[in-house]
Amino acid sequence: MAAAEARPPVEDWATDYDIFDPAYCSDPGPIWADLRDRCPIAHSERWGGSWLPTRYDDVAEMARLVPALSSVEFIVVPPVPLRDPETGEVLRARPYAPPISSDPPFHGVARRLILPAFSPHAVAAHEPYTRELAHRLIDGFVGQGRCDGAVDFAQQIPPRVIAHLMGIDEGRASDFVDWVRGILELGATDPELRVATGLKMFAFWAEEVAKRRAQAAQAGGSADVPQNDFISEVLAGDLDGQPVDDNHAMSVCNLLLIAGIDTTWSSIGSALWHLATHPADRQRLLEQPELLPTAVEEFLRVYSPVTMGRLATEDVTVDGVTIPAGSRVLMNFPAANRDPGQFPDPDTVVIDRAHNRHVAFGIGIHRCAGSNLARMEMQVALSVFLERVPEFHLAESGPVSWAGGQVRGPRTLPLTFSTPR
Ligand code: HEM
Repeated sequence: MAAAEARPPVEDWATDYDIFDPAYCSDPGPIWADLRDRCPIAHSERWGGSWLPTRYDDVAEMARLVPALSSVEFIVVPPVPLRDPETGEVLRARPYAPPISSDPPFHGVARRLILPAFSPHAVAAHEPYTRELAHRLIDGFVGQGRCDGAVDFAQQIPPRVIAHLMGIDEGRASDFVDWVRGILELGATDPELRVATGLKMFAFWAEEVAKRRAQAAQAGGSADVPQNDFISEVLAGDLDGQPVDDNHAMSVCNLLLIAGIDTTWSSIGSALWHLATHPADRQRLLEQPELLPTAVEEFLRVYSPVTMGRLATEDVTVDGVTIPAGSRVLMNFPAANRDPGQFPDPDTVVIDRAHNRHVAFGIGIHRCAGSNLARMEMQVALSVFLERVPEFHLAESGPVSWAGGQVRGPRTLPLTFSTPR
């Protein structure tokens, strides 16, 4: 498929949807509502072909069809082989990122290795750092009366928090953002960029893993290499009694850097967009800050960022539609969260919504391993922003732009404010 601007416009979303269409990225709700009524599992030949469910029950059922709907291909477009740039040898035919790319039984083994780092207790240890970071970022723009809420704030938090957790250099946050965009955002429609970025990332992880292996070998060696960070813990861990090899460690680290950045940055940005455009909700949170946790769940529901891929390994029938073996299925968690059969008044943000069993973090065995971390980052980012910049609005100076496809969220969000603290 050619570049974005060269694509023909969508005439019927039921048979020809385009998940990278600017209309779908900026406001997919009306498209899902239409599909849910007349074609709840849509199909399109674009981007290698895929199937798109829009009903909550269908998404939930599909998430449980493991491994008939397999996670070996989990991105929303066809994979491109990663080749050694010198020899041309295929290093990986498709992305390998355990546990997200694994089916049972290995999935559970790979997931157990990483879960301790994301327990509520482990995540709480990163909260003071996140709070100090949010203040530091606001200090940088508060005097100007304006900022880009996506670029200057939302985008800056997750790469530093994940670097802090993993034990890698926070100073390289802008590289991490470029890499994530090169894989998930710009790279989704540009296979060459995706491959080039993948190679850069693996070179980086090879160095990080080698540093820690060398240090472990010299027991008590160089003091400038952290010993109690995530990478070291992964290397010291085991997979069902077997040691963790370099390839596994690098692949896990790669997944966490990618999964930890774009998702949370998008969620913080969408929440800021909502508060800038819905002053009554912003005012209510200022008056009742105790509502922030339910508001965060509601932002996650209405502005769910993540759609995942599955590969049908056999013919699968859901809701009367047979999806043939070999097809790609898009786990449309965001549309499931707008299903009126599950959530009354689904397109409205109700910041104290009492019943909110949303699936923004997925459902079933692959449910997000980083949800505690994501929630902490969102709550800290939003509470510090509201505290320091209580009155803010969209600036007239520039447009808001949205990215979509695998991860949806604002990429530019010009804001103005008059009463900063
Ligand atoms: C608001 C932010 C986030 C959202 C909306 C989100 C969403 C998701 C979703 C929908 C899945 C399910 C994937 C599937 O079914 O194939 C998932 C899995 C995962 N997420 Fe997140 N995520 C977020 C933040 C994070 C963070 C901060 C991390 C950690 C650094 C993380 C790590 C993971 C991992 C490791 C998995 C794979 C779990 C498995 O396969 O067992 N996520 N996430």
